[in-house]
Amino acid sequence: MASAFGADWQTRHVATRVVEMETTPSTQLEARRMIELGDADGVLVIAHRQTAGRGRLGREWVSPDGGNLYLSFILRPRLPVSEWHQFTMMAALALAEAMEATAAVVVQLKWPNDLMIDRAKVAGILAEVADAYVIVGVGVNVNADLPAELAEAVSLKQAAHRPVNTRELLRRFVIQFDGYYDSSLRGATFEQAWAARLYTLGKAVRARVGEREIVGIAETVDATGALWIRTAEGTRISCPAGEVTLRW
Ligand code: BTN
Repeated sequence: MASAFGADWQTRHVATRVVEMETTPSTQLEARRMIELGDADGVLVIAHRQTAGRGRLGREWVSPDGGNLYLSFILRPRLPVSEWHQFTMMAALALAEAMEATAAVVVQLKWPNDLMIDRAKVAGILAEVADAYVIVGVGVNVNADLPAELAEAVSLKQAAHRPVNTRELLRRFVIQFDGYYDSSLRGATFEQAWAARLYTLGKAVRARVGEREIVGIAETVDATGALWIRTAEGTRISCPAGEVTLRW
């Protein structure tokens, strides 16, 4: 099929090969399938619609067609495993910058991996490991009307008060992420820039880690991206990004 996403960028690592699909259950699942087939480094899978889109912690990612972004890119990282948390950070920063440049909105991050406009969720990131690969999944509410059940979400179109150019958003995101990844291979780290965009810090939060609930003030994030919460008793507890639901 001809590319509706205009995938003609020059990148060094990311999206060096693009697989565009009209409909798929989930681009994350499609990416896993490609890894099994081999030679998947640098592949970007992008779809117009997903029938079983997945979010963090097994949640559904509602994925109608109508000009949204649903993509997963695959990398065989040349970074040590201890640095793989940087992928979520690089993706969140690149996406926030791409959204701001394309739609003239102000984007903040909600720990660990939500992108927000005026406290409503506009996009989410799901980074997963499969064998020696990282799959970074990105879903953005761009132009499609939001279903009524997503009352706490917002689309870029709503926030910008006009339709947003999905191709341009994608192009900016891919090129920015590629640049960040390239810098990371030369030792750059992104924790500080990422933490600076987090509006979670300083807020009263409730974190669910498995069966345990931690209530307190979100104080800091550490170099791995874990959130440190100070409870009313003064204890500091760390919450690893993978397992936590955060409310306030
Ligand atoms: C979250 O906020 O929970 C993360 C949402 C990630 C959704 C994207 S859409 C493209 C890719 N395919 C999926 O099934 N999920 C990710």
